[in-house]
Amino acid sequence: MANLGFWAGRRVLITGHTGFKGSWLALWLARHGAAVTGIALDPPTKPSLFELARVHEGLESDLRVDIREAGALRSAVEATEADVVFHLAAQPLVAEGYDRPADTFATNVMGTVHLLDAATQVPATRAIVVVTTDKVYENREWPHPYREPDQLGGRDPYASSKACAELVTSSLRACRPGAARIATARAGNVIGGGDFARDRLVPDCVRAFAAGTPVSLRYPGAIRPFQHVLDPLSGYLALAERLFAGDDGAAEAWNFGPEPGGEAPVAALARRFAAVWGEDASVELADTPPERHEAGILRLDSTKARTALGWRPVWDFEETLRHTAEWYRDWHQGADMAERTAEQIARYETDDAALHNFTH
Ligand SMILES: NC(=O)c1ccc[n+]([C@@H]2O[C@H](COP(=O)([O-])OP(=O)(O)OC[C@H]3O[C@@H](n4cnc5c(N)ncnc54)[C@H](O)[C@@H]3O)[C@@H](O)[C@H]2O)c1
Repeated sequence: MANLGFWAGRRVLITGHTGFKGSWLALWLARHGAAVTGIALDPPTKPSLFELARVHEGLESDLRVDIREAGALRSAVEATEADVVFHLAAQPLVAEGYDRPADTFATNVMGTVHLLDAATQVPATRAIVVVTTDKVYENREWPHPYREPDQLGGRDPYASSKACAELVTSSLRACRPGAARIATARAGNVIGGGDFARDRLVPDCVRAFAAGTPVSLRYPGAIRPFQHVLDPLSGYLALAERLFAGDDGAAEAWNFGPEPGGEAPVAALARRFAAVWGEDASVELADTPPERHEAGILRLDSTKARTALGWRPVWDFEETLRHTAEWYRDWHQGADMAERTAEQIARYETDDAALHNFTH
């Protein structure tokens, strides 16, 4: 479990803070008194959580730097003098990876090289968490979950680029002994309010339901480890705290997935989301079979994070869907999304504390 008091006054660098996960992370850290600098491009979507929740108001510094440009990135990283770095900036979409493989590798692989090369030379920096994905595993369509030592792979360019980011991290860790401790974090399919990316299940549902049309599913039977965005973020925080405290053993790869059995088929999630959304929301199967390969089954084993970090998911499938649908309904009805997002973070903290007291 993360110790939120740890973050007061900490200097934190988040790359990708204008994105979906980065915005939630920046809001959460700023709420606990961290001095957060963000490095990213402009928000990747319109609308965006970054703008709706006015993330910039809580930042110490809001920088637009392209991580493919090593020199500019180095200057920004050096000037920040962060205690802790969270590296989330990426080209994160599978479909985009097929369309623009070279850009995807440039951002996800060389961007990670540039970031680690710079951050490991900043004396103040003691902990770096590199965010990759559950897709880094060589997918063998196993029914059982993947564990951290399983083989890396990746058939599509996005998955492959993130597996490469894992290898890059191992190398930079090995060739810079004595520098910051570096770990990688592999989360599942993250959902939650404020994601507006194209070709992602929940944003596709929201766009369709808000327009009064059925959402069309391309991979209805694909099984994915869906989880609320705050669950893996709490894992990243707990991991960073452990690295900062000087635990060399933590400087490796970590899975942060849903509870065992918490995975679900795409169609089940879409149907439950439609039911929670209400009105006339409905789901249909796409007429044409998908052209591009996607893995059929993907499960993550998070035993290591549970036992070694005391981390666990707080919101189950139903609660995750309910909070996510509420967020988008509120947005659709014109609510103040900075307020609503802060309320959801507060609710998560209360539920996390209750769960922790119950299980310890
Ligand atoms: N959303 C998910 O389900 C999920 C699951 C597992 C892992 N991840 C990983 O989490 C991270 C964040 O994902 P997200 O869903 O928030 O993505 P997102 O598209 O919402 O945000 C991406 C962020 O990266 C920044 N960025 C992209 N290219 C950049 C560049 N060249 N230079 C600087 N900044 C750049 C964008 O400006 C944005 O701030 C990514 O590393 C992604 O691979 C996401």
